Amino acid sequence: TDTALIVVAAGSGARLGAAREGKPVPKAFAEFAGVTLLEHALRGIDWVAERVVVVVPPGFEAEAATIAARAGVRADVVPGGATRADSVLAGLAAAGDAQHVLVHDAARALTPATPFDRVRAALEAGAVAVVPVLPVVDTVRSVDTVRSVDPARSAAAAGEEGEAAEHVLGERLGAVVDRATLRAMQTPQGFDAAVLRRAYEAAGAARAASTDDAQLVQALGEPVLAVPGDELAFKITTRADAERAEALLAKEAG
Ligand code: C5P
Repeated sequence: TDTALIVVAAGSGARLGAAREGKPVPKAFAEFAGVTLLEHALRGIDWVAERVVVVVPPGFEAEAATIAARAGVRADVVPGGATRADSVLAGLAAAGDAQHVLVHDAARALTPATPFDRVRAALEAGAVAVVPVLPVVDTVRSVDTVRSVDPARSAAAAGEEGEAAEHVLGERLGAVVDRATLRAMQTPQGFDAAVLRRAYEAAGAARAASTDDAQLVQALGEPVLAVPGDELAFKITTRADAERAEALLAKEAG
């Protein structure tokens, strides 16, 4: 069956703060061990799908096409949007009529073949949505924001509306969650293409709040299957992640 792979690489990477020639550069175009993140992400993935769509910040299409060619991937390059969800939608619009769609973060640039393989296999076995996951090693807690009403400030701010001036004191630990029941979501996430399109349609503008495609599919009431993810599929987000990636690449080269 026909599969399309959407690689979303249109983020700014503000948390990483990468620069090229002294100017901020989108994360996917920052270099790791001398090679752009996007090229690392695309290397060795030509087998994954019959059609590859790469979504990049507007203005970076030509550079992305060169990078894809260098990585040995025939890809359509399209401009992304302001949020990850908008970028996925842009990718979907260029994905054609493939039966299955895989959505992958370029930021998970060192993802090995195994998760791609597992996700593809699950789709071929009839799953409508598949997500690679990892167990959570940290104890995880939700928090509530604690606000206080300062009487002195309220009096000053009372004005016409008479609204109390609230200010944030900090965070208070909320519910305890048993980490044994938690999983961290990774990509590539795989979907029946029609179901994913329906999920985005149903979400409408609310998609902006989503950082995870499976979440939108789940909101439709569709079952989402979890398969084992991979430590190497970590998302390069912070400087520390970047250092980990560089160290792994150096080991590989040496
Ligand atoms: O921001 P975050 O690291 O969670 O982004 C995950 C992936 O989504 C990255 O590969 C990033 O390039 C992509 N993204 C995008 N368009 C955006 C924001 C993020 O393609 N507007």
